[in-house]
Amino acid sequence: MLDSQNRVLSGMRATGRLHLGHYHGVLKNWIQLQREYDCLFFVADWHSLTTHYESTEIIEDSVWNIVIDWLAAGINPGSATLFIQSRIPEHAELHLLLSMITPLSWLERVPSYKEQQQKLDERDLSTYGFLGYPLLQSADILSYKAGWVPVGADQVPHVELTRELARRFNHIYGRDAGFEQIAEDAIKKLGRKNGKLYRELRRGFMEQGNQESLEKAQALLQDQPNISLGDRDRLFGYLEGGGKIILPEPQTLLTEDSVMPGLDGNKMSKSYGNTITLREDSDSVARKIKTMTTDPARVRRNDPGEPDRCPVFSLHKIYSDDKTREWATTGCTSAGIGCIDCKKPLIDAILVEQQPMRERAQQYEENPELVKSIVAEGCEKARIIAKSTLEDVRLAMGLDYRS
Ligand code: TRP
Ligand code: SF4
Repeated sequence: MLDSQNRVLSGMRATGRLHLGHYHGVLKNWIQLQREYDCLFFVADWHSLTTHYESTEIIEDSVWNIVIDWLAAGINPGSATLFIQSRIPEHAELHLLLSMITPLSWLERVPSYKEQQQKLDERDLSTYGFLGYPLLQSADILSYKAGWVPVGADQVPHVELTRELARRFNHIYGRDAGFEQIAEDAIKKLGRKNGKLYRELRRGFMEQGNQESLEKAQALLQDQPNISLGDRDRLFGYLEGGGKIILPEPQTLLTEDSVMPGLDGNKMSKSYGNTITLREDSDSVARKIKTMTTDPARVRRNDPGEPDRCPVFSLHKIYSDDKTREWATTGCTSAGIGCIDCKKPLIDAILVEQQPMRERAQQYEENPELVKSIVAEGCEKARIIAKSTLEDVRLAMGLDYRS
């Protein structure tokens, strides 16, 4: 069970092309994580439906393009597993099963529920699916028993809800009748020496709160070849006094809030219409930067400007080195350079950043089958994990009479 603690899971909703804000805010982080963890990344197409149930036509195109954007950015399908939520029906089953034990009040108090309803007030979001948005997210996470969930601050309450649900699930379904007796029997299966050691370490943790004892006992269990997985999970749970841990609690891996400014100086976001897409063609990038508004006080070429009032300079902060930034600052405040001059190195820097992405994307754009086969392989891998989790879940709930 502890293997899954090294597992990272994250998803993105399919509601349009990715832009440079996603690259700087999310994807660069994922690219780092795929080197260190066992990563699962998926397109949350069912989540898109919660807000876009009336315009499903954008979903299909977004799904494939998002995957191409990931690959273009440098997500490596050889190290990370890429898949599509709706291809793994276990998410839906777990969502349904968890819904039975989810108090309505837990969902109603998730901050995004009321906030998004107000923000998107042109849509009718008084639906069951929208209320269940964070529950579906919990099912996504728990289907893989993921240890880590990289998300931004706005998603932290969703991971918190997931933790509460896992705890509630384990509390209700993790105690078979006669749990203590079964645990004691399992200890005997460890053998005399290890059984004694387990008891000592358990006492060390339960009675003295000794963290080291807990870790030693967990390591001991990890190395036991002779006990069943069920007994192992039981003994993990018993160590901490509770029942069996069927669904482990995930932790948030907080991604720093993206500081990526858009073309108008506000945060880059599709809803503000101020984005440059990840694979935007170079002419369009140049045009967008050239038409950016600058410091409003710099009406004429001879008027000095103030970089801190200028959205172009915000982008220099991301893309330029100190030397270029100093050049821009001096040139701007002394009216030594024009805004067109100032924008030039910025256009170059963005194009340089995008060049390898365009190159990597090309083979996928030309050959969509390639993307589909990467996703098919990812779905297959993901499904194996999710299926096994659902077997555990059904068993714990007494629903394993299907076959
Ligand atoms: N709700 C997330 C977002 O809007 C997307 C998401 C869906 C997700 N399921 C997830 C993120 C599971 C992490 C884990 O960004
Ligand atoms: Fe902005 Fe550069 Fe023009 Fe100054 S010179 S107003 S920083 S674009």
